[in-house]
Amino acid sequence: MCGIVAFTGTSSTVPVLLNGLRRLEYRGYDSAGLALQTRDGSLEILKRAGKVAELEQALEEAEDARPAENSGAQPADQSTSQPARCGRHTQGVTRNTIAEATTGIGHTRWATHGVPSEDNAHPQLDCSGSIAVVHNGIIENYAALRAELLERGHRFISQTDTEVVAHLIEEEYAAAHGDLVLAVRTTVARLSGSFALAVCHADEPGMLVVTRCDSPLVVGRTKNGAIAASDTPALIEYTREVYYLDDRDLAVLRENGSLQFFDPAGSAIFPTPVTIEWTLEDAERGGYPDFMLKEIHEQPRVIRDTIAGRYNADTRRISFDDVALSPRELKQIERVIIVACGTSYHAGLIGRDLMETWARVPVETAVASEFRYRNPLVTPATLVIAISQSGETADTLEAVKLARLAGAHVLAITNVVGSRITMEANTVLYIKAHLEIAVAATKSFLAQVALLTLFALYLSQERGQLESNVVSEIYAAMEQLPRQIDGILEDTGSIISCASECGDAQTALFIGRGVGATICYEGALKLKEISYVHAEAFSAGEIKHGPIALIDPEGLTDPRAQTPVVAMVCKSVTYDKMLSNIEEVLARGAKVIAVATAGDTRIAELTPHVISIPEVPECLSPLVASVPLQLFARHIALLHGANVDQPRNLAKSVTVE
Ligand code: AGP
Repeated sequence: MCGIVAFTGTSSTVPVLLNGLRRLEYRGYDSAGLALQTRDGSLEILKRAGKVAELEQALEEAEDARPAENSGAQPADQSTSQPARCGRHTQGVTRNTIAEATTGIGHTRWATHGVPSEDNAHPQLDCSGSIAVVHNGIIENYAALRAELLERGHRFISQTDTEVVAHLIEEEYAAAHGDLVLAVRTTVARLSGSFALAVCHADEPGMLVVTRCDSPLVVGRTKNGAIAASDTPALIEYTREVYYLDDRDLAVLRENGSLQFFDPAGSAIFPTPVTIEWTLEDAERGGYPDFMLKEIHEQPRVIRDTIAGRYNADTRRISFDDVALSPRELKQIERVIIVACGTSYHAGLIGRDLMETWARVPVETAVASEFRYRNPLVTPATLVIAISQSGETADTLEAVKLARLAGAHVLAITNVVGSRITMEANTVLYIKAHLEIAVAATKSFLAQVALLTLFALYLSQERGQLESNVVSEIYAAMEQLPRQIDGILEDTGSIISCASECGDAQTALFIGRGVGATICYEGALKLKEISYVHAEAFSAGEIKHGPIALIDPEGLTDPRAQTPVVAMVCKSVTYDKMLSNIEEVLARGAKVIAVATAGDTRIAELTPHVISIPEVPECLSPLVASVPLQLFARHIALLHGANVDQPRNLAKSVTVE
């Protein structure tokens, strides 16, 4: 969950590295740092705790510092808590360094080992300060390696696993008689765990070595050099043609833009480049105050793009030609298991209900981090559907590996071309959500649900369980969704006023039945992850079995003490039961925020706080009801002064277990 970026070329490296770190900050933002190398080989580092903005401030200070302030071996800014280890030629980052450095590596961190601090910020150096390393992932055998290195006299400054890598490369570089590529390769052979690494050496100006295992990394050529980064947003304005490395492959980037690729044994390999479909505009806010609001407003387009081309009006059938399963194999599926984490797991819950209802096949969902350890029953007749927006979630990837080993056919649903999950699964279905930068998943969730809805229809038709008229009716209703979601986005007044009603709440309950309960699970996750309000969702029928005790009776006499309860009460077979549940919580002092079908007059008799959504078939209700809950959570987060794009303690892609 960190972001790394590396560039070497004939132009200044600082702007490229900073631009890349800003674009990768959604991956982690505890601290940030750079290693800058000029053509004479001098290697300087600058690191700051906090966001990339802190690092930019430190660079500005270094640029503004008078030359005399930079004569010593310290960076211009004396705030460094401990003298950063410096290289042989070091003089700290100066105005000249910033102007002349044409090679460099950068890092924005989500802390795993060691608190967020300057010492623990990357890059990490070896004893001599000649080798700088940035890393995303977890080195699982770092403690033993560190102990060995300490015994051999190495001195450590940080608490990080990454610093171990720098010292290992130092030893391997000496053993390799100055061959940096060989040194990185033999170092990597000693590591277990996950890593994406970028390495530079003071004696190798104009050259970078990168490698990965279980953490993402993309490599590309730019018009005046070569670049590598954790994710495509950092490269997108320099190149649209990228290369993906397999586990423990290496790439050598040179300032003339040349790229060399090697497999773990050191043999040259020639990967095929992949073209990035996203545009730079996708990576920008586009006039919105934050990425989350932009991405919420992109949902009509995302639904349109995700369902496009999946229905043949002549045959009235759904098609999934990209699913490598024949009609016979689809009929032979005895069981489906959906594995995912977080919001993707909630999408899986919706897919489960639809597949069981329509395709009449047993479907279970499993949180990926649990699935791996419960010795699950998986056979070749099991279809495992792994859902991951990033395609890099460590728990989901491990679940996929386990399922593959058990002989299951694994179908991945992801948003990222070339992500790890696309290399591990048998079949890949791409949602068309385009780049999602806000840590809180919104448009990717809707795209996952839309794709799962289509796949459930497909599975049902291929197993002879659904008539084509039903399929075409549901698809026709799906084609209306973009317009209906646009309608919600154009009239958010009731959503904002209901959110304002809950602005002071420190806790909130969500209740629903059937698919309404699943919508609540996702709504509660959205609220808690961006506003830090403790939100919890329950099946409405369960509240009287315990959770109703959470409602503060003070609310009966003091409106400020009312416990907010968000109730999903759209038209459905359980509508009347939901009204009863709403009465139950109102009778105990709750403030009910009802998400109801437009035109419902009964609900207004129970509560004045009503969010109306357009009437859709119940099976499609998550695709409209989730949107108000996203806006509801976002507004409350803003009222709390939270950063909706980069919530505390979170990262967009959880690439560690
Ligand atoms: C969603 O808002 C969260 N950011 C988080 O729960 C996320 O859904 C989860 O980490 C899974 O990520 P993935 O879809 O990339 O695997």
